[in-house]
Amino acid sequence: MPQYKISPSILSADFACLGEEVRAVDEAGADYIHVDVMDNHFVPNLTIGPLVAAAIKPHTQKPLDVHLMISPVDAIIPEFAKAGADIITVHPEGTIHLDRTIQLIHSVGCKAGVSLNPATPLELLDYVLESIDLVLVMSVNPGFGGQSFIDYSLRKIEAIRKRIDATGKAIELEVDGGVKVNNVRQVADAGADVFVAGSAIYNTPDYKATIAAFRAALAG
Ligand code: DX5
Ligand code: ZN
Repeated sequence: MPQYKISPSILSADFACLGEEVRAVDEAGADYIHVDVMDNHFVPNLTIGPLVAAAIKPHTQKPLDVHLMISPVDAIIPEFAKAGADIITVHPEGTIHLDRTIQLIHSVGCKAGVSLNPATPLELLDYVLESIDLVLVMSVNPGFGGQSFIDYSLRKIEAIRKRIDATGKAIELEVDGGVKVNNVRQVADAGADVFVAGSAIYNTPDYKATIAAFRAALAG
């Protein structure tokens, strides 16, 4: 069985007590902490910057999985690295020179991810796949938590899984948007190994029980 990872998205947390909310999912069994950064330009929402990432960093030992839904993106990458990001994921549409951006992420000591929106063709990975550490498949249009999983994403996940396996490299395949206890098994069967879940965790009263339910579904 693959080493499945759960990355709760703090987008659905209570922002008035973010440190506590991060500690709570850490203690409940999260593998990563997913940090959604939005700029009201690349996506129609505005969330947090490096200051907030730095503020939550002392509240967890788990890697900060920073998802940058912003454009332009390069100038702020070193700031997120300084704030404690471990993985930095960008969208190809958010940068003019994707290869340069990937090199920049590595140069500041972080793992590099590339995220594909639902309608973004997977061919954008053609020349960069072997240079990255993670592919993030968006299974909703980015911008908001609590949207429904777009089913055709499963075909894309399957196709990317084949490409990753063909590289022979340990590139993670993360899926973000509408992932819940009742569909995570299907997403895993398509080939994903890292699961972002925002509302499906933070909108429940017992994070530990919910993450355990995710793991049970993945084990089944
Ligand atoms: C959407 C964000 C997601 C979001 C997922 O733009 O990238 O990480 O928080 O939320 P849920 O799990 O509620 O769909
Ligand atoms: Zn995200």
